[in-house]
Order: sequence, then structure tokens, then C-alpha cells
Amino acid sequence: MSKSLIIANWKMNLLRSDSELLTKSILNMVNPGVLQFEIVLVPPFTNMEIVHRIIDHTDLSLGAQNVFWEDSGAYTGEISPTMLRDIGCSWVLLGHSERRQILGETDFEVRRKVSAALAAGLKPIVCVGETLLQRNKGMAPNVLRRQVESALQDVNNENVQNIVIAYEPVWAIGTGNNASVQEIEVAHDEIRDKLIGLFGKDADNIRIIYGGSVNPDNIQYVLSTKNVNGTLVGGASLDADAFIQLIEKAGAK
Ligand code: PGA
Repeated sequence: MSKSLIIANWKMNLLRSDSELLTKSILNMVNPGVLQFEIVLVPPFTNMEIVHRIIDHTDLSLGAQNVFWEDSGAYTGEISPTMLRDIGCSWVLLGHSERRQILGETDFEVRRKVSAALAAGLKPIVCVGETLLQRNKGMAPNVLRRQVESALQDVNNENVQNIVIAYEPVWAIGTGNNASVQEIEVAHDEIRDKLIGLFGKDADNIRIIYGGSVNPDNIQYVLSTKNVNGTLVGGASLDADAFIQLIEKAGAK
């Protein structure tokens, strides 16, 4: 299995100048040469180029928050996988619950995006997670299994090492209610089991990361949890000091 991941999802925040400042602060404060984590910055589309210029030739890498499945054509408002590669992007978040819930993104769309991203050489971070209602009704295991199976339906074994699954319970995102060790462990076991069912031994190469109200105070228990191979951080990645503290604490666990 590759290094653990720390992914900074800036969502629809920061102007270009803010992104520039934040990226420079992160680069100045972390010592990329000794990083034991793979760190990925995921700015809004309009800020990707400026972030890329700063982190090019460093150990930090660039991700996008979404992609379309076609490569070019009459798709007003969409961005293609090739366009992302063209600006130095190597990762892409897919199926984030904010896209599923607010913009109505479906399992089928996520599946098409995963295939298109892989075909273009992008590494998809596929987000899955149950709502509070689904959890309270005991549906969480089925929701996770369905989302994983659907998203990876067209993926074959040669590509699995390029896939990351992010378990992000919807009730934990942006709420301050991060999941407990036990909740994370159970969900990650469920996902791992599904991946083994789909890809056999090769599933060992798929990293499963946790996201949902991760911050410098809870990063250590999150990363110490069994079967957790990194984290997806939203709010706490928008502040340079908090994000650096989080990376340092992650390294000290
Ligand atoms: P949060 O967001 O850390 O602000 O909860 C995580 C995410 O949605 O990726």
C-alpha cells in the first residue's frame, strides 16, 4: 500500500490571491522532503492554475473537485479529464455528498466520471457515506456497499491502485460531529470487505480514507483507527496554521 493521504478540500472557498497565500504558507511550513504523507491540495477550478504554479516540482500534488466524463464537445459549463491533466492535476474528488445532495449527482454519473478519470490518468477519490437518517434506520452498510459497487463497476483490476475511497458520513461533514473510532472502523471494514469482493487480493492496494470534521485535535485518533489510510479535510484545511498543525500531529501519531 502507498503512503497515507492528507487531502485538503477547499470546496467553493478562497479567491485566487487567498489560494496563493495559503499554498505558499503550507509549502513554507511543511518540509516536503521528509513528508511521510502524500498531500493533495484541491482548490476550486479557478484557482487550480495558480496553486499548480506554486507546488509544481514539490512533493505536494493538485486535485480537482469534479470532472465531466466526456473529453471535449458541446457540454457548456463542464471541465474534461484532459483539461485537468493539462493544468497539472493528478487527482479528482468524485461523488462528494455535497454534489450528490445539493446538485443531484447520481451513482450512475459518479460511475461514468470514475471511468473517464482513470482513462485520462487521473486518480479518483470516490466519496461515499450515509446520511443520519440512513444510519438511524440501520441502512449505512447497504448504502456504502451500493455506492462503492456502483462507482467501481467499470474498473478493472489493473487500475485499482489508482483508486482511493473516502468514507465521509454526511452527518459528520462540516458539523463538528466527527465519527467515533468504532463508527469509522465498522464503516471502513464494510468498504474493505466490498472491495475484496470486487477485486480480490488487489483490493489491498486501494486506500480508504476518512473525512468529516477532521481537525488538529482529532487527527491522531482518526489516523490510528484500523483500516484508515488517510484523511479528507474540509474546514480545517482553509487555515494554514490549523492545516500545518494537523499535518504535524498526523506525523507524530
Ligand atoms: P469538513 O469537510 O472537514 O469541513 O467536515 C470534509 C469534506 O467534506 O470533505
